[in-house]
Amino acid sequence: MSNPFREDLVSRSRPESCTVVIFGATGDLTHRKLIPALYNLAIDGELPSNVKIVGFARRDKSDEVFREGLKELNKDVSRSGHNDEIWNDFEQTVHYHQSEFQDLDGYKRLADRLDAIDTERGSKGNRLFYIASAPEFFDDILQNLKDAGLNNAAKGAWARVIVEKPFGTDLATAQHLNQVVNNTFEEKDTYRIDHYLGKETAQNIMVLRFANAIFEPLWNSRYIEQIQITCSEHLGMEGGRGGYYDTAGAMRDMVQNHLLQLLSLVAMEPPTDLSADGVRDEKVKVIRSLRQWDTPELVAENVVRAQYTAGHIHGKSVVGYCEEDRVDPESNTEAYVAVRCMVDTWRWSGVPFYVRMGKRLPKKATEISVHFKSAPNVLFNAIPGASDEGNVLVIRIQPDEGISLRMVSKLPGTSLRLEPVKMDFHYSTSFGKGSPEAYERLLLDSMAGDATLFARRDEVEEAWKFVDHIEQAWHAEENQPPMAEFTAGSWGPEEAEDLLAKDGNTWRRL
Ligand code: BG6
Repeated sequence: MSNPFREDLVSRSRPESCTVVIFGATGDLTHRKLIPALYNLAIDGELPSNVKIVGFARRDKSDEVFREGLKELNKDVSRSGHNDEIWNDFEQTVHYHQSEFQDLDGYKRLADRLDAIDTERGSKGNRLFYIASAPEFFDDILQNLKDAGLNNAAKGAWARVIVEKPFGTDLATAQHLNQVVNNTFEEKDTYRIDHYLGKETAQNIMVLRFANAIFEPLWNSRYIEQIQITCSEHLGMEGGRGGYYDTAGAMRDMVQNHLLQLLSLVAMEPPTDLSADGVRDEKVKVIRSLRQWDTPELVAENVVRAQYTAGHIHGKSVVGYCEEDRVDPESNTEAYVAVRCMVDTWRWSGVPFYVRMGKRLPKKATEISVHFKSAPNVLFNAIPGASDEGNVLVIRIQPDEGISLRMVSKLPGTSLRLEPVKMDFHYSTSFGKGSPEAYERLLLDSMAGDATLFARRDEVEEAWKFVDHIEQAWHAEENQPPMAEFTAGSWGPEEAEDLLAKDGNTWRRL
C-alpha cells in the first residue's frame, strides 16, 4: 500500500530561489503584512537564498524611497521586532518597479528586469506574482502578465500567481475572475489566499481531529449538539475602511471566505491523504452540503443581519455604523451577521452550526466551540440545580491560541457539589514560542508549491452560491428580511439570541 505520508510536510527544505513580484506595492497589505512576513522569514532563515522582491505600483519612487517606507512600518508591526542590521541586508533584496496596471509596456519592462535579475543571480527564473492591488485591477494585471509572456515559466522553472481577496463579490464575478485567472495560469499554479487558513490554530484543527484517536468517534450528530464559530472584532471603520466595507458587509467580507473555511475544516471527512487536492476535495463537499437558505422566509428564519448604533468600546464612545466615515448614512449594509447553517450529510444530520461575525463587539477574538450532548439526567445530572450543559471543546483561533475542554468536576469537600472546570492548552506556554504570522506560512507554501492552505476554484464558487442566496434576499425589491440593531460594545442584537433560543441554545460568551 502506498504511504500517504508526505515527508516534505514534516521537515521541509527551503524552497528554491525565486523572485516575488507584488502588485499593489504601495498599499497597506504590502507594508503591514507581506514585507514584514518576508522579513520574519528571513530572520528565521526560512526565506530561499537569493530571493528577490519587486514591488510593482503606479506611484513614482526610487528603490531607496520604497525601502525607507517599508522599514518605517516594519518597525511598528514586525512580529519579532526590528533589527537594523538584519533589515539592511534584507532590504537589498527589495526593488521598486513603477508602472500603471493597465500599461502593457510596464510589464514588458518588468519581464526584462526579471530576466536581468535571473542572469545576475544565475537562477532559472522561478516567479511568484502576488496580486495585492485593489480588485478592479485584477483583470488588467492578469491579462497583461499573459500578454507580456510572464505567465509562462522558463524550462525547468515555475510561474505562480497568488490572488488576494476579495475573490469576486458574488458567484458571477467570482466565476468571471476564475475564468480570467485560469486563462492565464493553470489551476495548479493559482493560489487564492485566505489568510485564516494560514493561522496556526486553523491548521491545528485537522491535526486535533485526525492525529488523536479520541475525538473522531465522537465527532458526529450522535454526540455533538451544536457547533459555534464566532469572530468578534472591537474595531469599526477606522482608517478609511468604511468605503470598501459599505460595499461588502460582514457576510461577503468574512463569512464567505474565512468563516466558511473554518466550518469546512471542522466538518470535513478525513481526507484519503494530505495532498492539497485530498484535503480540498473533502472541504468542498462540506460547503456543497450546506442547506441553502434560498427564499426570503428561510433567510429571515436562519440569518440575522445588524448594524451597530453609537456606544462604548473599552470605555471610549464610538459612533454608530451609519455615522462612520465613508459609510452611507442610509446604508443597508450589515456590520454583524449570524447564520444558522445546516450541513446536510450523514455525519452532521440535525446539528446546527452557528456562525457569527461582528464589528464593534466587546473584544477581538475568534473561536470555534464544539458543544457535546449532556450526560443522561440520572446520577449526578439528576441532582437539583445540576447544570445540564455538556462538555465543550473550544478551539481558540486568536488571541491566546489554544484549546480547552470544559468538564464537570466535584468540588473538594465533604458535600457533593459539582462545578465546571477547564483543561486548557495554550500554544505560547506549551511550546514556549509564538506562532508565525499567517502570511509567513502562506508565502512559504506558495514558494514551495504547496496549495493545501489555499482555496480551490470550486470551494470559492460553492461558498458564493450559499452567500448569494442570502444577499439576494437582503437586497430584493420586496420582503427584505429586517436589519437589526445593537449598541456598539455589546455582544450583538437580541435577534441573534433568539436565533439560537429557537433551538434551545445560547451563544457561548467569549
Ligand atoms: C479581513 C477582513 O479579511 O480579515 C477584515 O477584510 C477583518 O474586515 C480581517 O478585520 C480579520 O483578520 P484577522 O486576522 O485580524 O482576524
